[in-house]
Amino acid sequence: MVSLTIDGRNVAVPKGTTILDAAAELGIKIPTLCWLKKVSPTGACRVCVVDVEGVDRPQTACNTPVKEGIAVTTSSEKLESIRKRMVELLLVNHPLDCPVCDAAGECDLQDSCYGLGVTTQDYAALPQKKPIRYDWPLIESDPNRCILCEKCVKVDHEIVRSDAIDVTCRGEDTIIDTVDGKPLSCEFCGNCVGSCPVGALIHKPSKFRGRPWAFTVTKSVCAFCSAGCQLEYHVRNGRVERTTSSDDNFNSGNLCINGRYGYAYLNSPQRLTRPMVKAAGVQAATDWNTAMATAAGKLKDIVAAHGPDAVAGIGSPRVTNEESYLFQKLFRAGIGTNNIDSEARFGYAAAQDVLRKSLGLTGASASIDRIDEAGAILVFGTDLNAESTGVEYRVIKAATKKDARLVVANMRDVKLKKIAHSHLKYRPGSELYVITALAKLIVEAGYADTTAAGFDAYRSALAAVSLAEAAEKTGVSEADLREAAAHLSGKKSVAVIFGSDVIRTGSVAETVAALVNLALVAGALGRETGGLFPIDEKNNTQGLLDMGVAPGYLPGYRDLGAAPFAEEWGKGLPSTPGKDLWKIVEGIEQETIKGLYVLGSDPAGSFPDSARIRLALEKLDLLIVQDILPSATTALADVVFSASAAAEKTGTFTTVDNRVQQLGKALHPAGDAREDWDILAEFYGRLAGTSRQRSTAEIRAEIARLVPAYGESALAKKPYDFSAAKPAFAPVAPSAAPVSGFRLLAGPILYHNGATSTFSDNNREVSPSAYVEIAAADAARLGIAEGGTIKVTTAQGSVTAPAKVTERVQPGLLFAPWHFRETAVTALLRGGSALIEATVEKG
Ligand code: SF4
Ligand code: SF4
Ligand code: SF4
Ligand code: FES
Repeated sequence: MVSLTIDGRNVAVPKGTTILDAAAELGIKIPTLCWLKKVSPTGACRVCVVDVEGVDRPQTACNTPVKEGIAVTTSSEKLESIRKRMVELLLVNHPLDCPVCDAAGECDLQDSCYGLGVTTQDYAALPQKKPIRYDWPLIESDPNRCILCEKCVKVDHEIVRSDAIDVTCRGEDTIIDTVDGKPLSCEFCGNCVGSCPVGALIHKPSKFRGRPWAFTVTKSVCAFCSAGCQLEYHVRNGRVERTTSSDDNFNSGNLCINGRYGYAYLNSPQRLTRPMVKAAGVQAATDWNTAMATAAGKLKDIVAAHGPDAVAGIGSPRVTNEESYLFQKLFRAGIGTNNIDSEARFGYAAAQDVLRKSLGLTGASASIDRIDEAGAILVFGTDLNAESTGVEYRVIKAATKKDARLVVANMRDVKLKKIAHSHLKYRPGSELYVITALAKLIVEAGYADTTAAGFDAYRSALAAVSLAEAAEKTGVSEADLREAAAHLSGKKSVAVIFGSDVIRTGSVAETVAALVNLALVAGALGRETGGLFPIDEKNNTQGLLDMGVAPGYLPGYRDLGAAPFAEEWGKGLPSTPGKDLWKIVEGIEQETIKGLYVLGSDPAGSFPDSARIRLALEKLDLLIVQDILPSATTALADVVFSASAAAEKTGTFTTVDNRVQQLGKALHPAGDAREDWDILAEFYGRLAGTSRQRSTAEIRAEIARLVPAYGESALAKKPYDFSAAKPAFAPVAPSAAPVSGFRLLAGPILYHNGATSTFSDNNREVSPSAYVEIAAADAARLGIAEGGTIKVTTAQGSVTAPAKVTERVQPGLLFAPWHFRETAVTALLRGGSALIEATVEKG
């Protein structure tokens, strides 16, 4: 520790602390302009100057480290005068166009002028007019307003690692611009704009949409991916016009394009604003009473004629915990069936099943901020940039600022490759070889954490694994495997992160079991930092499963028919497991299931094998669909309940790392639409003949009574206790699917999340349509040029889309984003897997 005095008061702080941070420890606020806590200091504005006794010139507090015994003065007439002069100098070339600047009212330069009493400007300079970049998508840059604080560049380089903008043309003409001078082409996270203290960078979609003080600001949680970033909606005239995130939030103010600009789907003219009922084959808008009565009447008729198991439900990872809870209650207590499942069946539910059985884990083993401090990180089978950007920001921080070793393993290149210390690009289907080879090398190097049971048997099984065979099967050299294992060995803690490229493409149970073994052996569990982190693209998949939207268990993973539930709900409950998603589809095909209630998802449009599902849904006697936007499934519905988006309701989401976060209601649902919980509560009342629940707080109180893991108020999930888990190694023999011909991999991309963001004009501006990535060697062989049309065919059908010729995918592999309704890539998939054999030709 280093001891010093600041304004006469003693303080002791760790070595390396800046004077600014040391002063903050004492509650002394030194003014700043170019300093931003989350990035390295620039030391450009000199507004933070302080006097250090015995040093001639004032020092900048934001980038001067403390020294033993120094005496610092933060406030004096001289310092105020220097600060004032610095701000006056900034004004020399700054246009005083505050009346038309979007930042007016929240501008740090305005605030500094006001705070320091800068009322005149005594310096003169030749007027300069630098061109404004109107040609960038989503972001506008006016270099005339720029004070060259470099916050935007540092955020872009240090947090996002996009390296899209920089300080260019040093000297008098210094500006912030794209590195190549072309229009901005980047991740469009808008974090640079969020950090700009003046109006030099602004969000184009919110330009002139309202002064900062004219907005009603509501704190809430992002409703796209499972990182659960905290944000603020800014609403004016019944529309969300922008979203921001405070640096004090859990996510340090960082968002991705979906959190920053995806809100535009809320304002889509395509929103479903009224309930609809189909008559004589045509859907027509109606009132709520008619829609509810029609749906409830038909559903009761089906149950009376065919029994409760003739009805099924498909839930949604988009809705709140309270809504998922009510949805499963509707089926179990209101109808009497466990036929309820969701798209989690395609990977996350199966992965979670392994984690629950082997580790007692229902999600990640620790909160994602533990990744920041891990000694090493393995990112396996996920493009975090697309699946969970908020988690990727943490990996970037750990690997570039905290000295964590980063190993990235995937069948294709992902963004993290550029900062990875080791990159393993394995053949599709050879994951088990990669995982077991890494575990074997860690064990053989003597770094294995052996605390879990069954280590000796596991070590024996690993001894039989041949590295040469692993190298041959995976296409990754032995040397690369050894290097990766060395990075993961002997660290204070390890974070193992995995996602859709591994849990949605193969034999999930075996792969996840092998990853659990690797996590145990590498020391990812039971330590202060690091952990095991399954990732899912959608925001509330975790809450959906926690709340029992699954055929085999009740909320809190309790046994079917558990007494407290029957007591609380006042009904005898079905105790045999229901049908899972694919069995539900089969049941509809075989006409044993006649009624289906789909909540917030699009099985006929966005699920794998969607063409098959669409044909099945056409056979139903009753299809009820509750959603916010039109889809292939709403088009087939007999009854449509127009529902609400996250910004329009109250309730909670649970992130994959088990943080339960409350939504803030920023808007009323569109038109006559209603909050999902409100629809479900009324519908339950109509079916069950009981009084309905009146608020999400009332529902939460019920959850709290029945799901102990959600605590007394159902607002916090109990942290995972590894010491109570009694984990054991479960050896898995490596195997690899033989690969011949092409494979198509479908998955998420950065610029979208699910299909929701495709209704956002902002997201569409930078990512308008689907494409297929093909390896350069394959493209050359097939005569396919960049941007030329490519036709991909699987046993399920064909799609044509523009080709992206790239080295990101290896020869034999194709990648296509699954978001776009008009290019139904998911229709090409089969059985829930996102990886499928395909043929390719020039389109
Ligand atoms: S929008 Fe994001 S990626 Fe693009 S320049 Fe700004 S910080 Fe970088
Ligand atoms: S554009 Fe904004 S954040 Fe970037 S250097 Fe200029 S003033 Fe600072
Ligand atoms: S989509 Fe995910 S990473 Fe992006 S802002 Fe939302 S929660 Fe954060
Ligand atoms: S805040 Fe310290 S130099 Fe700008």
